[in-house]
Order: sequence, then C-alpha cells, then structure tokens
Amino acid sequence: MPTVVPRTSLPKGKIKVLLLESIDASAIDAFKSDGYLTVESQKKALSEPELAQAVKGAHLLGIRSRTQVTARVLEQADKLIGIGCFCIGTDQVDVAAAEARGIPVFNAPFSNTRSVAELVLAEIVMLCRGIPQRNAAAHRGEWLKAVAGATEVRGKTLGIVGYGHIGTQIGLLAEGVGMRVIYHDVEPKLALGNATPVDTLRTLLQRSDTVTLHVPDTAETHHLIGTAELAQMKRTAHLINASRGNVVDVDALAAALEAGRIAGAAIDVFPSEPESNAQPFVSPLTRFDNVLLTPHIGGSTVEAQESIGLEVAAKLLKYSNNGSTMTAVNFPEVSLPEHRGKHRLLHTHRNVPGMLAALNAVLAAAKINIASQYLETSRRVGYAVIDVDGADRPLSATLRKRLDAIEGTIRTRVLY
Ligand code: NAI
Repeated sequence: MPTVVPRTSLPKGKIKVLLLESIDASAIDAFKSDGYLTVESQKKALSEPELAQAVKGAHLLGIRSRTQVTARVLEQADKLIGIGCFCIGTDQVDVAAAEARGIPVFNAPFSNTRSVAELVLAEIVMLCRGIPQRNAAAHRGEWLKAVAGATEVRGKTLGIVGYGHIGTQIGLLAEGVGMRVIYHDVEPKLALGNATPVDTLRTLLQRSDTVTLHVPDTAETHHLIGTAELAQMKRTAHLINASRGNVVDVDALAAALEAGRIAGAAIDVFPSEPESNAQPFVSPLTRFDNVLLTPHIGGSTVEAQESIGLEVAAKLLKYSNNGSTMTAVNFPEVSLPEHRGKHRLLHTHRNVPGMLAALNAVLAAAKINIASQYLETSRRVGYAVIDVDGADRPLSATLRKRLDAIEGTIRTRVLY
C-alpha cells in the first residue's frame, strides 16, 4: 500500500485563515510553517456588518476580545470550520450559535496566568507601601515622605478569592516574599505551598491584609464585593481586582474609600471599559490617589501574547489537520490519534438517536471498511469521527453526498 501523508480535504494552501485585532506574529508563523499560506491578518476589530462581509470564504477565524461574532455574522460564514479566541474569554462569540453550525470555538485559558499573577504581586507591595498616593502626589510636585501606613508584605496575610489558575499562582509567588496565604473557593481545591483554605468569604475578608479577587464573571460573582463585604475588611487592608469588572460594586468601593473604610485598592477591570485607547476612561475611582488604576492589562505582556498566539494556533491547526477538538468551549471534545493510511470522516450532527447507525449504514452500503470510530456528544451536537480503510483512493463525491444527506447532519469533513 502506498504511503499516504494525512492532509486536509482542501489543500492547506487554500484554507483561508482570517486573523483580526493584531494577533501575535507567533500565530501567523505557526500557520505558515504548517503549510497554511492564505493567512490574512488585520490590525483592528471589525464591526458586525464588516465582519459578516469579511468572514465569507474564511475557513478559520482568529479574534481577540473586541470582535463580536454574533449569530448574524455566523449566518454569513459559509466556509467557517473553527474559531480561535486569542484571549481567555469567549463571551464575544455566540458559542451556542457556533455549536449549532458545527463550529468549535477555542481559547487560551492559561497563557497569561503568570502575567496577571506577577502584576498582582507587584500591586500588593505597592499598596502596602502607599506608593499610589505618594506617586500621584510627587507628580503634582508634593513630597509625601512618611513611614505611617507603609508596611512590608512579609508576615502579612493575603486572602485569595477564587483559587483557580491565577489564584494558585499568586499564592505561590506571595509565599515567596514571606506572606501567609489563605484562600476561599466555592469548590474544594488542592492547597499549594502552605496556603490554607477558609470556609467563608467573611472569614477571609476579616483576616486578610490584602484581598485579591480571581473569580470568573458569573451571576453568583456579580457584586461579590459590595458595601457589606467592604465593611468586613480591616481598615488597613487593600483590595485588588484583576478578575472582571462586575465582581466589585465600584460605587460601594468608592464610598468605602471616601469613608476611609479600607486603605486602598488596585483595580484593573471595570464594569464598563473604553472600547479603544481613543475613548475616555470614566470611573468613580479616578479621584482617589490611593487607588492604582490600570487599563485591563493584567494579562497583557509580550510573553503572554506570544504564548496565546502559539496555544490557540496549535488548537486550530490540530482541529483542522486531525479533527481533535480538545478544550473547545462549545463542542464535544475528542482527542484523536493520527490517521496515517486511513481516510478520516468528521461528521457533526444534531444529537438525535440513530445517527451512528445511519452513518454506518451509508459506509456499509458503499462497502467501506471502518478501521476505528469515535463519538462524543454534547446536549445538542454529536461529533462522530470515523477512520476508514482505502486511503489509496479518494472517497467518492457520491459517498460525501450520502453522508451529507443523513437527516440531522450539520457538517461533514474528510481528512485524507
Ligand atoms: P479559573 O477558572 O482557573 O479560577 C476561578 C476560580 O474561582 C475557580 O477555582 C472557581 O471555583 C472559583 N470561583 C468561582 N466562583 C466563586 C465564588 N463565588 N467564590 C469563590 N470562588 C469562586 O480562572 P482564572 O484563569 O484563574 O481567572 C480568574 C479571573 O481572572 C477570571 O475572571 C478571568 O476572566 C480573569 N482574568 C483577567 C485578566 C486581566 O487581564 N486582568 C487576564 C486573565 C484572566
């Protein structure tokens, strides 16, 4: 049997990759070095009508957080097989609409974890030394040299709310500078280093010298920190929020700062953020010298961007070349071996009874031998991967049509 090098159903050179929002060059290099030559990279985010136009003919789409991939955009995405969010969040994509069209959505959940953790560590030190207000004063020509209120972080207690990827990293870094670490999470979590879990948020707030928030943006975490919670913190304590803007009630925070209820804060994320650097930043917190304000840059480092570029490009390439959907946020996850010497059929369908039987009946009628078969389903969608013998000859167009004609089929792809 001749050796068949696995390839995609379209030659890679013809697979169109559209990347928006200045996605890192590491991603472009990854596509090109894998043979994907049609890579179009644009600097800006596109509006809905612009994107609906641009996405026509694109097979793979890469975005960051400012491009909204709506159901209307997806209606125009006639060739699209996968979306890569070159960031952490995927809220900007209508992931349910993408799923219904058989389009997996990938992201980079951990690539900027360390960058956020490093910034938070620096902020803990800055807040404990009163640097935000001393820096603000110095810029106005004032000299705020005083020991009062300036403390070392060594021996102080850091309270981490949300002990996930970022929270655990910060815990380890903080222990490195001699802090005691306590954490609160809604799930049981393995404590790293000498960190200690506490049962309630209240206990954490009461005991911590610095409280740092690292929870997701959910209905449960909306205004997790409001007036009542701020009142439970020590008067000398600081609050850090580099998670999501809605986790803190900023009006309540402004009131607590005004009243001297807490000593200061470092806030990187806001309920409403400017869409571009050209727009003004408006927040009730801008009037406080003892608040360090940063424009949602917790995860924005050169290293994080490069690593996000590589991580998401690798996921899109693996899916395009091999069919694997591991870590897709909206799609049945399948980790697949290579299919050397076989054809691989990728069949996405509505999750209804009898699909596998219907697929197998079509293959049996065409006298095609199944070498291996994988099926994963989500509530709405099923993803069947079938490796078949006979890689020395292409699958007939008639067979493709019969597979496509099975009631409930969303999409069929073949990898040779
Ligand atoms: P993760 O999912 O690894 O961890 C979140 C943790 O919060 C989980 O352990 C979860 O069980 C816990 N949690 C959920 N609800 C909770 C509640 N009500 N109380 C206590 N714990 C709760 O997430 P990761 O990667 O650590 O990210 C954390 C946050 O940081 C997310 O909101 C993410 O969007 C944000 N982020 C911000 C960046 C920035 O630039 N400022 C960059 C990267 C992430």
